[in-house]
Amino acid sequence: MKIIAYAVREDEKAAFAQWQGENPDIEVKLVSTELTVASLEEARGFDAIVAFQTGEYPADLFDRMQAMGIKDLSVRNVGVDNLNLASAKQNGITITNVPAYSPNAVAEFAVSQVLKLLRNAKVYDRKISQHDFRWAPNVAGEINGKTVGVLGTGRIGQVMIKIMQGFGAKIVAYDPFPNPDLAKQGIYLDSPDDVLKQADIVSLHVPATKDNFHLINQDTIAEMRDGAIIVNVSRGALIDTPALVTAVKNGKLAGAVLDTYENEASFFNHDLRGQTLSDPLLTEMLSMDEILLTPHIAFYTDIAVGNMVRVSLDSAKDVLTTGTAPTVVVG
Ligand code: COI
Repeated sequence: MKIIAYAVREDEKAAFAQWQGENPDIEVKLVSTELTVASLEEARGFDAIVAFQTGEYPADLFDRMQAMGIKDLSVRNVGVDNLNLASAKQNGITITNVPAYSPNAVAEFAVSQVLKLLRNAKVYDRKISQHDFRWAPNVAGEINGKTVGVLGTGRIGQVMIKIMQGFGAKIVAYDPFPNPDLAKQGIYLDSPDDVLKQADIVSLHVPATKDNFHLINQDTIAEMRDGAIIVNVSRGALIDTPALVTAVKNGKLAGAVLDTYENEASFFNHDLRGQTLSDPLLTEMLSMDEILLTPHIAFYTDIAVGNMVRVSLDSAKDVLTTGTAPTVVVG
């Protein structure tokens, strides 16, 4: 049995080596490049592909895999919005993901960024570096007593709720499939709009689908509380970014925590030191004290990285040996 893994980073190699040690009968080849039409040639003769990328996969990936006799694609992350699932099905390719590598990694990061935003971290970092040790005028806000709106109460949303409740926030939430335990707490509202109307801090924890493209836009922002904060550690496509930036600039919103951006693929996790960014909106957001923008790092913890490697390889092995896996998305 032969598995090829794409886009393998240095920080993942120890986890790959450990799994290889536990599965000596399986050949695992590591490749550092992403999965492209050209690099797919390296998979010839392999039975399964393990991949990781935030940008689009090749449009005809599954036709090519089928032609090459490769039966499985196991992604080392949770989101599958950059894959053509219908084409995988048509070609009889199984897709698996890693649905819960560490909900805490993502939720803890989101909360830490909210605290930084409320505490004017960018402003104080700058002031302190200039030896300006004065307090005024940057009075901070607190989470305690605020209403936090959570859209999507899956694994990450649930941890977010728990942490925010620990800080003393009131929670309001929406999910088309309410969690029975959370429902007992009476936190669910009837619609996403109801959540937007009531929350001081709105946090998005939903996968990107064609139905929720630009869920946060000029119209939905208008419904939000004045001075509210938006948190997006999920997918960039959920937010119409120019509308968000305008709302922060004109004071409708107090700020935003963004660990993802709809145009992130050619910037995030790239070394662009010394270069002028070819995206004026990204440059503008980086310059704003009210927007905390990070390059999709909420997931990036030791626990999560280890789980992503182990579960994706386990899934590929399961699919090849039994025809299915607990993490099947298509198949
Ligand atoms: C995911 O697991 O889907 C993430 O958002 C992490 C990412 C860097 C691919």
